[in-house]
Amino acid sequence: MKRIAVLTSGGDAPGMNAAVRAVVRKGIYEGMEVYGINYGFAGLVAGDIRKLSISDVGDMIQRGGTFLYSARYPEFATEEGQLKGIEQLKKFGIEGLVVIGGDGSYHGAMALTKHGYPAIGLPGTIDNDIPGTDFCIGFDTATNTVLESIDRIRDTATSHVRTFIIEVMGRDAGDIALWAGVAGGAEQIIIPEKDFDMAEVAKTIQKGRDRGKKHSLIVVAEGVMGGNEFADELAKHGDYHARVTVLGHVQRGGAPSARDRVLASTFGAHAVDLLKSGKGGLCVGIRDNKLVENDIIDVLENGKHKADLSLYQLNQEISY
Ligand code: F6P
Repeated sequence: MKRIAVLTSGGDAPGMNAAVRAVVRKGIYEGMEVYGINYGFAGLVAGDIRKLSISDVGDMIQRGGTFLYSARYPEFATEEGQLKGIEQLKKFGIEGLVVIGGDGSYHGAMALTKHGYPAIGLPGTIDNDIPGTDFCIGFDTATNTVLESIDRIRDTATSHVRTFIIEVMGRDAGDIALWAGVAGGAEQIIIPEKDFDMAEVAKTIQKGRDRGKKHSLIVVAEGVMGGNEFADELAKHGDYHARVTVLGHVQRGGAPSARDRVLASTFGAHAVDLLKSGKGGLCVGIRDNKLVENDIIDVLENGKHKADLSLYQLNQEISY
């Protein structure tokens, strides 16, 4: 392939810029032309496409967000949208596409694959919920952002002897809650993958109080319920007037961590290698610390992301 393109789609994730940079720089290094598509699949259908140079991605590796912008674009789920996208790619003479994003973006890449157009998916979502990889671009940074907040909340929680509910992102997956919760020493972690009993939550807080504990931190993944709702439910079980912090989109911003930058750079360069050798219909990931590529149709149709529930058990055993 001589001309390829890259887009970012869905919720942005720190490290997307580093991934785009890697695609552009590695592509040009391999003698290709690389095009950037603005606003994800919406920009693809609209033909918002431009050639990128080495310097267009200079000063980008450290930036949060995505300079290609992103969009959620459900219209790409229709065949009409997909065919329009392919028409645009052909119009620009683009022979292969790198799609960086989460589940919706992967479905877009899969649709292109089913139409016979070579696309490679790179997992970019703070939720870390893409099958076929242990880690997604942005997850490490988001987890560290949450951790910083947990540490700060712990200070004030201890000073006032309070219980805090910290609501974190994770629509369907508890990865952020699990990792940040364990790292922050949260007393309880509530995730979609595990049922919980509010009476037990209250009991655990009480046990801590009884032995003179000065704070109680409960990290709740938004996929279970909102932090405020959780606090209201908890209050029904006794004198537990918890303060609530909803971290929200602050988790999606900020400079990517070293780990995310390296992951993004490795993934981006590998996507170019795959397209260069004429391969499409794949998604890149990291499994047991090794770079892997999987069939994107198989991953989406048969794969399921699994949060590391050993962390849940670990937290039960060491943070209470
Ligand atoms: O990107 C994933 C995610 O951050 C989810 O955790 C969250 O529920 C959702 O995106 C929020 O989406 P939006 O920014 O479109 O409101």
